[in-house]
Amino acid sequence: MAENETTPETTTEMTTAGVLGQFADPEALVAAARGVREAGYTRWDCHSPFPVHGIDPAMGIRPTPLPWLVLGAGIVGAIVALLLQWWTNAVNYPHIISGKPLFSLPANIPVTFELIVLFSGITAFVGALALNNLPQWFHPLFSVARFRRVTSDGFFISIDSSDAKFDAAGTAELLSSLGATAVETCRESSAGARVPRVLVWGGAILVALAMLPPLVILIVRNTKSTSPRIHIISDMDFQPKFRAQNANPWFADGRAMRLPPEGTIADGQLRQDDNYWRGGLTRAEEAILDADRVLDEPPKHLVSRFPERVSLDDDSMRRGRERFNIFCATCHGRSGDGDGMTMLRAFKRDDGWAAPRSLADPTVRAMPVGKIFHTISHGVGTGPARTMPAYKWQIPVDDRWRIVLYVRALQRSQQATVVAGEPEADENENQPEENDTQP
Ligand code: HEC
Repeated sequence: MAENETTPETTTEMTTAGVLGQFADPEALVAAARGVREAGYTRWDCHSPFPVHGIDPAMGIRPTPLPWLVLGAGIVGAIVALLLQWWTNAVNYPHIISGKPLFSLPANIPVTFELIVLFSGITAFVGALALNNLPQWFHPLFSVARFRRVTSDGFFISIDSSDAKFDAAGTAELLSSLGATAVETCRESSAGARVPRVLVWGGAILVALAMLPPLVILIVRNTKSTSPRIHIISDMDFQPKFRAQNANPWFADGRAMRLPPEGTIADGQLRQDDNYWRGGLTRAEEAILDADRVLDEPPKHLVSRFPERVSLDDDSMRRGRERFNIFCATCHGRSGDGDGMTMLRAFKRDDGWAAPRSLADPTVRAMPVGKIFHTISHGVGTGPARTMPAYKWQIPVDDRWRIVLYVRALQRSQQATVVAGEPEADENENQPEENDTQP
């Protein structure tokens, strides 16, 4: 074996890492700290089992810059959040929602707040570690047996050998002169600083292995292959079936989706009673209206009496009022006068917005219940000429009838001709004779 071939096991080169001085009590520690600082050292530290009063000024420790870092990170977070929201919502993908501005501060506060907290939180955490030189796996002081007492009753000052003023003998002298009960040179083996070879190689192998999956994905994504891809667990991913909207050469029309045979009605969708389900419209008429087309002639069979399935009681009336106030009052107003919020605002714009008549208007009062039901269901007008939207998609049939009931009540409440005590006018007294199929 050659002379100069050294391994950590055979020779350990020791270097001086610093000097450690032990002090009898906290007072001595504070006094000595003042002395070390006055001697001009900068890379040194005090160690004590508990916080010692006055040690910070004695050591000349300045307040940490961490709060400023956190403040900066918070401001950056706010700017990033605002820029991100402004760019996505107002620049890159502007989308008007209910006429609201594309960018406004109040709407963007929650995300801004979150990013401020996120950025400053992470900065506080990472910054605190970094400013304390953490994580640090080992420190030469740990190899000094005496130093173990620092967690019970030992007070120490350590001066690092990297300090510009460090000089092993002189520094030890200084600590003794400052009242140290014991002074020890702290040595560090050059081997101790070395990471064990097993860890280095293990880590390298792990890193190499971790590169493999992304590498394989990258290669596979960038090469063309005609063979089906490997599917380890195929579950029910592959089935001999045609998907919706796909082509299927088997059928004459080439489509995979089949129309139900003529006259097919889904379970529970029979809806035979024209009067209840459609206010008297036929199925064919309803289909035309649903397609947003106009009927060739106005419907003739609109019912003039409430169908039997509609219960005309207090509960229905209350429900009708509730639904009316939700769906209709925005335009027609709570009393049906036509002064709902939407209308009040629309009139200010003065762009030809159609005003609804009062629901107590004689023409509306004269309408058979089926007509009002039909208006709620299909609205008024078609296409761009539409002045009132169709509500059949939002309001179930039963509720539409209850709204009609409440509209009747509104009309009656504004009709001054009813004489108390007299039998009330029939719902439909001013109706022309309708083709009423009710018994
Ligand atoms: C978006 C505003 C708006 C809403 C909401 C609205 N309407 Fe209308 N309604 C109108 C307008 C406008 C007219 C007048 C249409 C015209 O004459 O062109 C109208 C007309 C009517 C008429 C008269 C029908 C006719 O053929 O002239 C009735 C009855 C009616 N609405 C009932 C209701 C009921 C019940 C609701 C709640 C389900 C409702 N409306 C919801 C705007 C609205």
